[in-house]
Amino acid sequence: MAKILGNFHLALLIGLALLVIAMVGLHSDVMDGFYWAGFLRFLHVFAGVLWIGLLYYFNFVQIPTMPKVPAELKPGVSRYIAPAALFWFRWAALATLILGLLVAEIQEGGYSARALTLAEGYRTIGVGMWLGIVMAANVWFVIWPNQKRALGLVEADDASKARSATTAMMASRTNLILSLPMLYCMVGQIHMGA
Ligand code: HEM
Repeated sequence: MAKILGNFHLALLIGLALLVIAMVGLHSDVMDGFYWAGFLRFLHVFAGVLWIGLLYYFNFVQIPTMPKVPAELKPGVSRYIAPAALFWFRWAALATLILGLLVAEIQEGGYSARALTLAEGYRTIGVGMWLGIVMAANVWFVIWPNQKRALGLVEADDASKARSATTAMMASRTNLILSLPMLYCMVGQIHMGA
């Protein structure tokens, strides 16, 4: 058992197999266009959980704990854990954004333009989409370039590293703040009123 669960890829594969069993077992007789549009929404939420889960890891765990980590242990985080977390973080952000726009486009003949202009009936998801877009832009254009310098993944002097670490932290905190209204809007469109 430890051999199976100790292997990340195998565990993921088992999760995927169970997903397929759930899909076939529960919905094999309704796999039409409507179903696959719903499935796209599931993929969007999965990518979103990966992204925001890592955003919360940075804000709830890594950033507040780093000052307490002894200096000789800090490189373990900055050279190994943070770059790996940032890899999944930025690509999950992009996947969430693309899948979210696809979800909007695939339904009712496509409503992303109406949502993004905050048209009547699409206001809640429109606000959520704008917040998500700002957050994804923050990841790719502020957090990632600054983290690359801060973590020493690209050449930078000590002063620039320190400045970049502060900028990345502030952008990450901004996304933590925006994530609450963003998630509220994502869920609210269908379940709390458009
Ligand atoms: C990055 C930009 C994002 C865009 C453009 C976007 C777009 C969308 C769209 C169009 C919907 C469908 C709403 C409807 O059914 O009318 C949706 C739903 C949803 N999104 Fe996002 N989204 C984004 C980010 C996120 C993130 C980061 C999460 C985090 C988990 C997330 C979680 C959800 C959830 C939970 C739903 C509701 C699913 C349901 O109740 O059926 N979204 N999103």
